[in-house]
Formats: sequence, C-alpha cells, structure tokens
Amino acid sequence: MSDLFEKARMVRENAYAPYSKFKVGAAIRTVNGLEFVGCNVENAAYPEGICAEAGAIGMMIAAGENKIEEICIVADSPDPVAPCGGCRQKISEFSTPTTSVVLSNLNGERIRRTIKELLPDSFGPKDLSMK
Ligand code: THU
Repeated sequence: MSDLFEKARMVRENAYAPYSKFKVGAAIRTVNGLEFVGCNVENAAYPEGICAEAGAIGMMIAAGENKIEEICIVADSPDPVAPCGGCRQKISEFSTPTTSVVLSNLNGERIRRTIKELLPDSFGPKDLSMK
C-alpha cells in the first residue's frame, strides 16, 4: 500500500489545478498487479475538469485492465481526502464490494475503506441485468 501512496503522492505534483488550487493524485493497483496513476486536470470551463481517480481509471482501461484491487487517493487536505460521489461511482464500476479505497493526505494520515462502505447500495451493471 505504501507503494501506491508514494505513486499517488508523486503524480499529484503534476496535477493541473490552477482554479481550485487543490491538487489530487490517485494510484490504482489491479488484481493482476498492474499499477496506474492519475491527477486532476481542471479547465477554464469549470465543469470540464477531470478528477484524479477518473484519470487513473482511464489509463487502466486503456491498458486493458478493469479490476481494481486497491486505489489510493492523496491531497493536501486536513483530513484524508474522500473521493467525490462521482468518483465513488466510477471506482465501483470496476470493483468488488471488498475493493480497498485508501484516503490519504500529505501528512501521511490514511483511512482504509472498502468501496461498499463508501458507496453502499450502489447502482451498477447488475441493475442493467449485465454481468
Ligand atoms: N477532485 C478529485 O480529483 N478527486 C476527488 O475525488 C475530489 C475532487 C478534484 C476536482 C477538482 O479539480 C478539485 O479536486 C477540487 O474539487
């Protein structure tokens, strides 16, 4: 896990967040042991911004992986940063109920949750009668 934290911390430095000044980094390890990172990318048209988790998920999917074992999210927040609602949904799409989500901050404080704890009773592929 410390490895994922370090990768998320490092990619966070590349975040493009001139509007919010709130840089976020995310690192994913898949069940096959591959790792992917992402950072938030904001836009002058504010709603067009991309969250760090979404960036990391995009890299994972582009590489042909789709099962998250663990994702670590880091920001310079007083408390370990919690993923936004949209990112909980995006993580959930590629998780099992026990997938680990590690919330962290630059002080090194960490909280480990399962995606089910962060998004209980989630809407998902099952609701569309898909596997
Ligand atoms: N942000 C993320 O990248 N991930 C989250 O889960 C929460 C919010 C970004 C979006 C925006 O660029 C900045 O943090 C402030 O909301």
